[in-house]
Amino acid sequence: MRLVACGVCHTDMYTASGVDPSGYAPTVLGHEGAGVVEAVGDGVDSLAVGDHVVTLFSPQCRECVHCLSPKTNLCLAIRDQQGKGHLPDGTTRLSRDGEPIRHFMGTSTFAEYTVMPEIALAKVSREAPLDRACLFACGLSTGLGAAMFTAAVEQGSTCVVFGAGMVGLGAVAGCRLQGAERIVCVDLSSERLEMARHQGATDTLVGGPHSVQQILDMTGGFGADHTIEATGSVAVMRQAVESARMGWGLATICGVAGKGETLDIVPRLLITGRRVAGSSFGGVKGRDQVPLLVQRYLDGDIDVDAFLSRRVGLDDVNKAFELMEAQDGIRSVIDFGS
Ligand SMILES: NC(=O)c1ccc[n+]([C@@H]2O[C@H](COP(=O)([O-])OP(=O)(O)OC[C@H]3O[C@@H](n4cnc5c(N)ncnc54)[C@H](O)[C@@H]3O)[C@@H](O)[C@H]2O)c1
Ligand SMILES: [Zn+2]
Ligand SMILES: [Zn+2]
Repeated sequence: MRLVACGVCHTDMYTASGVDPSGYAPTVLGHEGAGVVEAVGDGVDSLAVGDHVVTLFSPQCRECVHCLSPKTNLCLAIRDQQGKGHLPDGTTRLSRDGEPIRHFMGTSTFAEYTVMPEIALAKVSREAPLDRACLFACGLSTGLGAAMFTAAVEQGSTCVVFGAGMVGLGAVAGCRLQGAERIVCVDLSSERLEMARHQGATDTLVGGPHSVQQILDMTGGFGADHTIEATGSVAVMRQAVESARMGWGLATICGVAGKGETLDIVPRLLITGRRVAGSSFGGVKGRDQVPLLVQRYLDGDIDVDAFLSRRVGLDDVNKAFELMEAQDGIRSVIDFGS
């Protein structure tokens, strides 16, 4: 696959920093890729040269016990090899001075070309500009899917989204597409809360220790039908559980917590009907559903342009990391100049 565009995400920076317990080096980072199929191997039948594709760090084989269940998107087919930095056949296609270099998240898209398993590419409409389509490879689909698939937000419901980065803003848009009546977004940045309004938030709150009480006050003392956490902070995850409604409130957790951190929940909150669900890649079954999400963008249902803050060249990926660390913009996208 030839890369045309690739988003720069926290997970890349996290692994580059060396603190990721499952990380390894050397490797080629990058996992928010979009581009064009340049060649196909033997036995590939769902893709052809020239197809426009989005990379899937969360593949979909359509055959394993998880792919056959509607309850999960966690495909089992190539998990072990992908975790080791190998392609499904146990080898790598990357090397430096004759030394093999491992793949990252099964994607390694900070590169002009990458070799991908067929089951880890979603074929998308050729009408979608690839610098927008790449955002569906990770954060945007994660947020949209958390609301649309994991939580399956009902029409008319009250939702609270914690965090207004790429994932949280996607979740706000997902709640809107599901027909939520009230969407409260909580973040520390007023600029990001403004973006949340643009994506469909009806109310915004500056986050802090009082967030739970504020949400209870806004909902007649009960809490929200749905809360979605997209911050990575275990303290905020706890707030998401505590601000979910008695009886049926569902807290959907998207954030990746730090190594060794745990989530504290008072069990009484669960006995009285609150539920907690984790969401990886928004529960999106990549090959089937990423093309549908991209189509909703093409139909004018999702303003993806608002997330694309900057374009950088491949050589400037460290500059994109700096911008991310400074929370300057939502997403920088690498433009491969083709
Ligand atoms: N589950 C998945 O498959 C998946 C995929 C992508 C990213 N993630 C994770 O989702 C999380 C969000 O990703 P992102 O790219 O949107 O990150 P981001 O850093 O851009 O956004 C996080 C937001 O949370 C806000 N925040 C921090 N503390 C807060 C508080 N106390 N109250 C309210 N808001 C607060 C920040 O201001 C920021 O805007 C990260 O933990 C990331 O690792 C998970
Ligand atoms: Zn990502
Ligand atoms: Zn599978």
